[in-house]
Amino acid sequence: MTAHTLDGHEIGEWLRFARLLAGDAGALIKERLKAAENGTRIDIGTKSGPSDLVTDVDRAVEALLVSRIRHQYPAHGVLGEEGAREAGRPEARGLVWVLDPIDGTTNFIHQRVNFCVSIALYAGDQGLVGVVYDPMREELFWAARGVGAYLNDRRLRLDAPKTLRESLIGTSLTWIKRARKAGVVDRIWTIGERSRGIRSLGAAALETAYVAAGRLDAYLSLQLSPWDFAAGKLIIEEAGGAVVDFLGTPLSLEVPRLGFLAAHRDVAPELIDILAPWAKAQPDA
Ligand code: 2AM
Ligand code: CA
Repeated sequence: MTAHTLDGHEIGEWLRFARLLAGDAGALIKERLKAAENGTRIDIGTKSGPSDLVTDVDRAVEALLVSRIRHQYPAHGVLGEEGAREAGRPEARGLVWVLDPIDGTTNFIHQRVNFCVSIALYAGDQGLVGVVYDPMREELFWAARGVGAYLNDRRLRLDAPKTLRESLIGTSLTWIKRARKAGVVDRIWTIGERSRGIRSLGAAALETAYVAAGRLDAYLSLQLSPWDFAAGKLIIEEAGGAVVDFLGTPLSLEVPRLGFLAAHRDVAPELIDILAPWAKAQPDA
């Protein structure tokens, strides 16, 4: 694996490619929104339940990303929210592109803003390149291992001290059925009382990128998939933040079983103090 991290040239190439992909995906999304204004409807369907939505635009963007990757890097693996699954060839040394064509699909449908494209390149559990692109605001959050995290051209560094008392926290729980049953809602309420407030934007990848940019000081969720956080995780880590579960254990790219917390390094321990009792009471803790 070290071969990837040591070769800055390769990482630079992958980063350039990921940024181009994000721009092309954003252009396609904007075209479809424009066409919708002129009467070409966006098809909306449901997946696991009535608020788990997918549109033909999600699928078209994933198809675009996958075909570009196949053309450019035929040996690489692909994992996409809308069904792309390719293990990759042995010569790719475990490199996999992890894709969410539209994160925040509900916002895309209802608001036409507050969604993003999330693209990451991983080698096993190690993020090499991560890009979160908000095409409506033309904000590109990006990071490459060892290179740092950026919002467009601005370096992102979470190095100013921070307390929970002066923090703004992002979360989204209402669609997660087990949140109430699991008793975590009480814990979130406590976080609300001990911080400056709670926000719920509805796009996990974007909210994670916002933590790196200091617009939120933490984002937490009970239920995320690898494509929701793959890019954001690297962006936070390169900005100097923490990506851990509710016990404070660093996360891999696996589905987190004990919660997902992306936070400013100073704020993470205060949140873990509040959340750990819940995590310890879980059967798989
Ligand atoms: P998505 O828009 O790509 O589906 C909303 O709280 C956040 O959780 C979004 O990032 C959304 O990603 C994600 N999410 C994952 N599974 C979901 C589900 N079943 N219902 C609603 N949001 C879901
Ligand atoms: Ca999605």
